[in-house]
Amino acid sequence: MTTSLKAVTHAQNIRYDKAAEALYIIDQSLLPNEEKELRLRTAGEMVEAIQKLRVRGAPAIGICAAYCLYVLARTIEEPDPAAFQARLREYSAQLCASRPTAVNLSWALGEMEKTAAAHLSDPRPVLLEALYQKAVDIHQDDIAKCRAISEHGLSLLKEGDGVLTHCNAGPLATSRYGTAQGPFFLAAERGMNIRVFADETRPLLQGARLTSYELHRAGVDVTLICDNMASMVMKNGWVQACFVGCDRIAANGDTANKIGTSGVAVLAKHYGIPVYVLGPTSTIDMDCPDGAHIPIELRDPEEIKTLWYEKPMVLPGVKCYNPSFDVTDHSLISGIVTEKGICRAPYTESLAALFH
Ligand code: MRU
Repeated sequence: MTTSLKAVTHAQNIRYDKAAEALYIIDQSLLPNEEKELRLRTAGEMVEAIQKLRVRGAPAIGICAAYCLYVLARTIEEPDPAAFQARLREYSAQLCASRPTAVNLSWALGEMEKTAAAHLSDPRPVLLEALYQKAVDIHQDDIAKCRAISEHGLSLLKEGDGVLTHCNAGPLATSRYGTAQGPFFLAAERGMNIRVFADETRPLLQGARLTSYELHRAGVDVTLICDNMASMVMKNGWVQACFVGCDRIAANGDTANKIGTSGVAVLAKHYGIPVYVLGPTSTIDMDCPDGAHIPIELRDPEEIKTLWYEKPMVLPGVKCYNPSFDVTDHSLISGIVTEKGICRAPYTESLAALFH
């Protein structure tokens, strides 16, 4: 089932229809079996969509939250600017609490709150239009950043290389192209052959359900493996680099990404394979000194116990530990690829330089 490359890289995972005043997302929890748009109207629906990973991936969560806050702002009837702002902040806090690890969520909401503050004394339609424009800017900006990250990432690869990736950092998780998957699409556009090994990514199988779905449809050479097969694939010499996305990069380069990423990095070090983290500067949290300060989301044990099957796979009383992310130590990272270029160690200096 090969679709066109462009149909995959330009798919609209988040769409605001201005004429209909409606916000839609592709419900990623249904993929790859069903492609269905979901309309988000209320704060409750929005929080649920983020928590249940109907919209997921650090940049996508940020973009979606920006539009969500705009939609909610339109529903606030308080004529008093201070009361309006207080209500908007409540909505923002509600959205922000939906998932803790990806910093893009609080970053995008912070940008929206700043915009509202700057237009608080304007007539309400002007304020709302400024919020709409900000959400569009955040979205458009991510498109440009993903493209630049993909270019920088591709510069690290050569014809015929094999690359291992973990989780999903493609168009569904971002805007277009993606971050860690972006170079694979770009390579395909340019007729370059890259072989991708996609970890299935237990427990929610973003690698199987989303990464292999996107890459296969786009005609990229992708091989799906179980997470515990990565060592063998590396030992076989099939992988020349690992490309992973990120949910929060601390000031020292420690990087939170989908659970299992740090294990991939430890394995890669053993086999002498470079690990690159690809993400926009909006995923870098300079206020967070190191990985120990990154909040790690703990998710429902049912995700381990039942997977996507209807029948449980373990006895009901079995204890489970289900962290959604882990932190890869900066010493295991060969480079952090942002839209501004590739940062190398020492990251405390190279990351700080991005913001000067
Ligand atoms: O729990 P998820 O599916 O939102 O986790 C997503 C990841 O860990 C991605 O690798 C990360 O957000 C980067 S997306 C460009």
